[in-house]
Amino acid sequence: MTRPPLTCIKPPATHALLSSVPMENTATPEAPAAVPAPLQWNATLSVGDERMDDTHEEFVVMLNQLLATPQDEQLPLYKAFIDHTVEHFAQEERWMLATGFSADNCHASHHATILETMNAVVEHYEKEDKEIITRLAIALAEWFPQHAASMDAGLALHLKDVGFDTTTETLADPAKVRPASMSGCGSVSCS
Ligand SMILES: [Fe+2]
Ligand SMILES: [Fe+2]
Repeated sequence: MTRPPLTCIKPPATHALLSSVPMENTATPEAPAAVPAPLQWNATLSVGDERMDDTHEEFVVMLNQLLATPQDEQLPLYKAFIDHTVEHFAQEERWMLATGFSADNCHASHHATILETMNAVVEHYEKEDKEIITRLAIALAEWFPQHAASMDAGLALHLKDVGFDTTTETLADPAKVRPASMSGCGSVSCS
């Protein structure tokens, strides 16, 4: 398998998501968004680790459920989506720490930025902006394939390289890992 480029893909800009710029779709609080699912789970999204792929497929399914839900009914599902994303990111970060990354690695920083934006959206939605969850979901559908193909695929290869089993969360040979020795995305540093 060819090693993917380990570039740092920036998360969606928070200020753009939180602005009230009208969307091009025809969604209203009363009618479900007339937005076709922008992201479907398929083999090209696979990072080669079964447990990570299962989590990513759940992420994509929930994203599409959000977009198929009338905007004034999205909040409970959106909060469940945040909870799932907290677990999704925590799982990857736990594996990074177990295999030599320092806690301040840039992959974890990108996760933190995404979660910060997702949490900020709740307050804006509750105040008045009923389109904001749909805008965020569309932005995440653009962001996710890039993140999966770069940082997550790079992490999956790194886990294989050091012999980390993501099912049991154990290292075949702990001596192969130097704790907190990496702060970048793996083989490259992040700016
Ligand atoms: Fe991921
Ligand atoms: Fe990730």
